[in-house]
Amino acid sequence: MSTLLEVSGVSVSFDGFKAINNLSFRIGPAEMRAIIGPNGAGKTTFMDIITGKTRPDEGRVIWGEKSVSLLNMSEAKIAQAGVGRKFQRPTVFEDQTVFDNLLLALKKDRSPLSVLFYRRSNEDREKVHSLAEEIGLTSQLERKSGELSHGQKQWLEIGMLLAQEPMLLLVDEPAAGMTPEEREHTTSILVQAAKTRAVVVVEHDMEFVRRLECRVTVLHEGSVLAEGSLDHVTKNQDVIDVYLGR
Ligand SMILES: Nc1ncnc2c1ncn2[C@@H]1O[C@H](COP(=O)(O)OP(=O)(O)OP(=O)(O)O)[C@@H](O)[C@H]1O
Ligand SMILES: [Mg+2]
Repeated sequence: MSTLLEVSGVSVSFDGFKAINNLSFRIGPAEMRAIIGPNGAGKTTFMDIITGKTRPDEGRVIWGEKSVSLLNMSEAKIAQAGVGRKFQRPTVFEDQTVFDNLLLALKKDRSPLSVLFYRRSNEDREKVHSLAEEIGLTSQLERKSGELSHGQKQWLEIGMLLAQEPMLLLVDEPAAGMTPEEREHTTSILVQAAKTRAVVVVEHDMEFVRRLECRVTVLHEGSVLAEGSLDHVTKNQDVIDVYLGR
């Protein structure tokens, strides 16, 4: 298996508490991975490390074909290198239409001149339409984003991330606060996205994880406790003990 991201031996402490403890993890270029684990297991901190928000005390984070270290890179540079992250609170421009939000998010040359001479090209229009289709918001393109439902805003945010063409997409609890129908739609967006890129999903909802039909990594106390199919890890005695609080 070729590797897109390889994390090895990473640890980080906050005031002497080891939130991440000698963690190793790898993911291939077009792979879906779910990360589960109890509250405080280190799932969000793990994403903070990959995106450069938190710097580990030890270990390596190696990225891409050229095997560059992400540890010396700024958050902005890591994003430019192809790591996209979805935060829980959508950061869409509420006064703009869905169309304009997607248009603004498109990956392009952002030099001052290119912005000055910017025109809505047909190519961009087509890209926006295909993104809208991917996230199921084609019928909402002319609506103000502020009028969208919670679920629709989350999908728009995913679309805006996809517009950046990330090679790795990190999503932390995407189904939180969603209706069962919205959850299902979110699953299909992510499954589709993972056909052409790596997607890492942190989620507590096991039905949601099951529908992703992917390899699952179980984190506990900042380390990998088990890895494999959902059926495999949920039969693991250590995993059962952790979830039952034993
Ligand atoms: N910036 C920080 N400063 C101090 N402690 C932190 C910081 N970030 C995380 N922690 C601690 O590190 C541990 C892991 O937290 P983290 O948020 O990564 O867990 P999680 O697996 O995402 O949990 P949840 O499922 O509740 O979201 C927790 O004990 C948390 O309190
Ligand atoms: Mg978390």
